[in-house]
Formats: sequence, structure tokens, C-alpha cells
Amino acid sequence: MQKRLTLLGSTGSIGDSTLDVVARHPQRFSIYALTAHRNGEKLVEQCLRFAPEVAVVGDADTAAQVERKLREAGSKTVVTYGPQALVEVSKSDACDTVVAAIVGAAGLAPTLAAAKAGKQILLANKEALVMSGDIFMGTVRDSGAVLLPLDSEHNAVFQCLPNGGHEGVQHGGVTKIILTASGGPFRTREPSTLVNVTPDEACKHPNWSMGRKISVDSATMMNKGLEVIEAHYLFDLPGDRIDVLIHPQSVIHSMVSYADGSVLAQLGNPDMRTPIAHALAFPERVDSGVAQLDLAQVATLTFEKPDYARFPCLALAMKALAEGGVASAALNAANEVAVDAFLNRRIGFMAIAQTVDAVLNALQNHSASSLEVVLEADAAARRAAHTIIDSLPVPA
Ligand SMILES: NC(=O)c1ccc[n+]([C@@H]2O[C@H](COP(=O)([O-])OP(=O)(O)OC[C@H]3O[C@@H](n4cnc5c(N)ncnc54)[C@H](OP(=O)(O)O)[C@@H]3O)[C@@H](O)[C@H]2O)c1
Repeated sequence: MQKRLTLLGSTGSIGDSTLDVVARHPQRFSIYALTAHRNGEKLVEQCLRFAPEVAVVGDADTAAQVERKLREAGSKTVVTYGPQALVEVSKSDACDTVVAAIVGAAGLAPTLAAAKAGKQILLANKEALVMSGDIFMGTVRDSGAVLLPLDSEHNAVFQCLPNGGHEGVQHGGVTKIILTASGGPFRTREPSTLVNVTPDEACKHPNWSMGRKISVDSATMMNKGLEVIEAHYLFDLPGDRIDVLIHPQSVIHSMVSYADGSVLAQLGNPDMRTPIAHALAFPERVDSGVAQLDLAQVATLTFEKPDYARFPCLALAMKALAEGGVASAALNAANEVAVDAFLNRRIGFMAIAQTVDAVLNALQNHSASSLEVVLEADAAARRAAHTIIDSLPVPA
């Protein structure tokens, strides 16, 4: 049966890779809705190519521009806008699968709506899970939604679990999961020079091509910290059974350790189309367009322990996970504000960790008892981060 998709964040890096895989298998996949925030031009191109029923953008002006261009080109795609429109296309009966690829907290409401509606959810938007972990996973359980990880590490773990992911970590003698990390562009850079890093340098990832926010998160290793929290919720494992291992080649995407001493790993070229194709076609396998891995050419795979002093964001994320409550939501919100300030050259690279740390110290942690409580913690952390950033010097 053909899968009918809502693709949240279609104009981003994951959106591009997803549409590339979809285009290879028109009999298997079709598009119900595509969504962007402000990039109307790219959304128009995608609509003309994939003919979705609905296109969603962030605001009325962008919607009017997209609508005009689509009508001129003879397209019948309906154009809507705003956060509620994202929720509507995520829970619509007209789609069965939602690819959650909006960046940041803006993805939470539509992804949660997809979970409530019992959809198959292909999750790239790790921030949604980091913010609302127990609430999100509880919703998935109650509705019978199916959650498949797109993040390459979590997708790799899923593939290495007993019976190819059909059984969770509580079965089959799983002892640990090991998330690999490239170490980003600053793994070997002299720490004292990190204060002067520019946004372009931080976004130059050695192995992966990604959006700017996740690229900065990879450079600070906050991304790996968010992934540890994501793995905790996805696989129901405590933080002390989730290891991080630096693997600069990004060929092993993660591993699962078993009680008998076995370690299963998933390998592949670093290209998001592999985990996307795996999750789209699950439990079958389809061509993703990614070249087969040539291990003789790779020749060397190396591993190191992470350096928490060089990457304080990784330690902050581990601490937030250990504290529980709304600490992860506050960490995520503070990080989003700090990364945005860094990308806009308002603060230096090292001030990202400084800001997140100061926000976590300033706010009182408490139980994440409801979505409203989580959203309040998110808002409070954003306010605190802005106040801290206002007090920091503008980099030269
Ligand atoms: N890229 C990767 O390789 C990768 C790997 C693993 C996980 N992820 C995760 O996947 C998610 C997307 O990453 P990405 O690299 O694809 O990001 P990206 O290239 O920046 O794309 C983000 C997408 O979200 C949309 N968007 C931004 N702000 C929005 C808002 N306020 N409301 C609605 N839509 C909004 C953007 O629309 P416009 O284009 O109109 O701005 C774009 O379509 C992130 O959570 C990231 O952590 C990414």
C-alpha cells in the first residue's frame, strides 16, 4: 500500500533528503502536505514537483506569495499558514505518515498532534522529544502511534536492537547503547582559540551536510547531548547505560552492547538518505541513492573518549538528563536562543555553553507534569537566556 506523507520542514536539509528518497519510489510514497517557515520560493518548487494537496508556511505574506506563484503555474495545492495549520496537516486523516523535520521547539505541537492521531512518525526533530519526553512517549503509547527514529544514531541503534527493532531494549540482553559522534569541526582545535570561532567555521561539519542550527550543535557537541536525552526516551534506558564514543570517520552510526559480550553496529556512508529510506520503507529495504560503503577505501576506523572540558555542552545535557523534570526543556530552550545569538554574531562560540549553564543554574527545576508546565519552562528559559545574552559583550 502506498504511504501518504506529511513532511514537516520540507525545505530543510532533512526535507531535501526525504524528497530525494520519495522521488525514487513514486509507487510507494506520495505527498499529502509539505511545510516550510519562510522559504516560500523553495516550497513552490517542491509543490510543483510533488503536487501535495496542502502546503503550509509560517505567515500570511509568505502564504500569499506561494499561492500566487502556484496558481500562475496551474497548481491546485491549497496554501495555509501558521502553527495551527501545521497541527492540522499532521493529524489529518488524509496522511498516514508524518516526517517530523522542523528544527527546534516549533516542531513540538505538530509532532505531538501526529502522535495523538496515532500516525507513523519518522522523527528527526529531536528537540520535540528532549522537551517533552515522558509526555510524548506516553501519547505514542496511548494512541498506538509508531515512532521510527530518523536521527542516524538512533536509527542505527534501532537497527541493532533484537529482531531488527521489533523488540525494545528491555528484551534480548541489551546492556548499553553506544552513540557515536564525529567530534565536529573542533575536535582537535586548540581550546584557547575556540572563543574566536565564526558561525561559518562552526557550520563546516567534516562529514555531514546539515542545517545551521544542528551544525552549531554538532560543533559544541550539544547535539550529542540532545541525542543522549532522545535515546533515553526512545529506548527507555537510563542515562548511565548510554555511552558516547568519538568516532571521527562517521562510518559506524551507533552500536548496541549485549550481555554475552557482542556489540552490534550499523555502518554506512554518512548520508541521511540511508536512515530516511530505512524508516520510510520499514520493515522493508529500498534504494536510498547512497553509494555502498567501501570499507577497504575507508581503511581505518578510530575511537576516542569524549573530552567534557572541551565540550561543556555535552556535560550540561547529561546533567539535565540526570536532574529530570523540566531541566531538559530548559536546556533545549536556552540552547536554541544561544545558538541563534551566535549565528547572528551577538555572542561568541564559548558563550553558548556559558548561557545554557547560567540558565540552568538560575531556574528552579520541577516535575514536567503537563505540556503546559513544559511550555512554561521553555518560555522561562528563553527569557532568562535573553537576559544573560544582553549582559554579554558583542564579539569583536
Ligand atoms: N540535517 C541533518 O542531517 C539532521 C540529522 C539528524 C537530525 N536532524 C534534526 O532534524 C531537524 C531538522 O534539521 P535540518 O538540518 O533539516 O534543519 P534545517 O535545514 O534548518 O530545516 C529546518 C526546517 O524547519 C522549518 N522551520 C524552521 N523554523 C520553523 C518554524 N518556526 N515553524 C515551522 N517550520 C520551521 C524550515 O523552514 P524554512 O526553510 O522556510 O526556514 C525548514 O523547512 C532538527 O531537529 C535536527 O536536529 C537533522
